[in-house]
Amino acid sequence: MDGDKQGQPAPVPEVSARDLQKQLDETNQAMWALYKELDDKNAELERSNSELDQFAMIAGHDLQEPLRKVVAFGDRLGAEYADALDERGRDYIDRMQGASSRMLGLISDLLRYARITSQARPFEPCDLNEIAAGAVSDLEERIVRENGQVESGSLPTIDADPIQMHQLLLNLIGNGLKFHPPDRTPRVVVSCADIGDGTVALSVADNGIGFKEQFVERIFQPFRRLHGKGSYEGTGMGLAICRKIAIRHGGDLSATSEVGAGSTFVITIPVAQPRSERPEARPEP
Ligand SMILES: Nc1ncnc2c1ncn2[C@@H]1O[C@H](COP(=O)(O)OP(=O)(O)OP(=O)(O)O)[C@@H](O)[C@H]1O
Ligand SMILES: [Mg+2]
Repeated sequence: MDGDKQGQPAPVPEVSARDLQKQLDETNQAMWALYKELDDKNAELERSNSELDQFAMIAGHDLQEPLRKVVAFGDRLGAEYADALDERGRDYIDRMQGASSRMLGLISDLLRYARITSQARPFEPCDLNEIAAGAVSDLEERIVRENGQVESGSLPTIDADPIQMHQLLLNLIGNGLKFHPPDRTPRVVVSCADIGDGTVALSVADNGIGFKEQFVERIFQPFRRLHGKGSYEGTGMGLAICRKIAIRHGGDLSATSEVGAGSTFVITIPVAQPRSERPEARPEP
């Protein structure tokens, strides 16, 4: 402990104002060097991510073309030569067509993922009540089929890309309606809370099958699914797209869950975006 035996505090060494200023300058310089390094690393990361997106776009477009031909010739083979084939031959064609269609679906999901940044639209004020209502309307058929229920609290207006916000809520509400046990009708609740610092937490909660929380990071990876194709349809790209959208908006997406009880997905997102990201701040063409 500092201080002498009588409990007096130890004398503070004298530091001149000039020394203090020097230390402050050195610390400032070190901070700027760190900031610059971080900024360079960020720019490098953004560049390599955008190169990756461009690669996915080009590869995706180029792969679609020959695959469409395979599907088209497969269709013709099935229609024009069905009589010349026995049952096993027709089964082979069916399987080939099934696999080709799945692959076309995977490529189109990959393109959707790459387009989040490569074809991003500027941010604009978005009323999340309207966006949620649009997503629910797109899911109407599933809601009726599953006898489901979607409730939405009062949601704020935030600066965002409306198409991407629609994609995000469509997948999260869609998942909540999809991943439910057969003996329970799905119920999804969308709500929003102000968490301070100009950020809101938009939650989508369901009463579905849930998942073990140890798998929480896995479900956000592209094409990763915890449940087989046989039980629930989908390619496993939805949540990867949702997280990329949240990150593009300066936010993030996380989840909590309990097996058999349900899951809650939370998007933390800023209410306002930097002015340069907003359309009115763009220079006149
Ligand atoms: N609400 C949920 N309840 C339980 N499990 C979920 C929920 N949402 C996602 N999952 C799990 O996470 C996986 C990934 O979800 P994601 O939305 O990416 O894919 P998907 O719904 O299977 O397919 P896609 O969205 O591409 O049509 C799902 O396959 C499922 O295993
Ligand atoms: Mg999904």
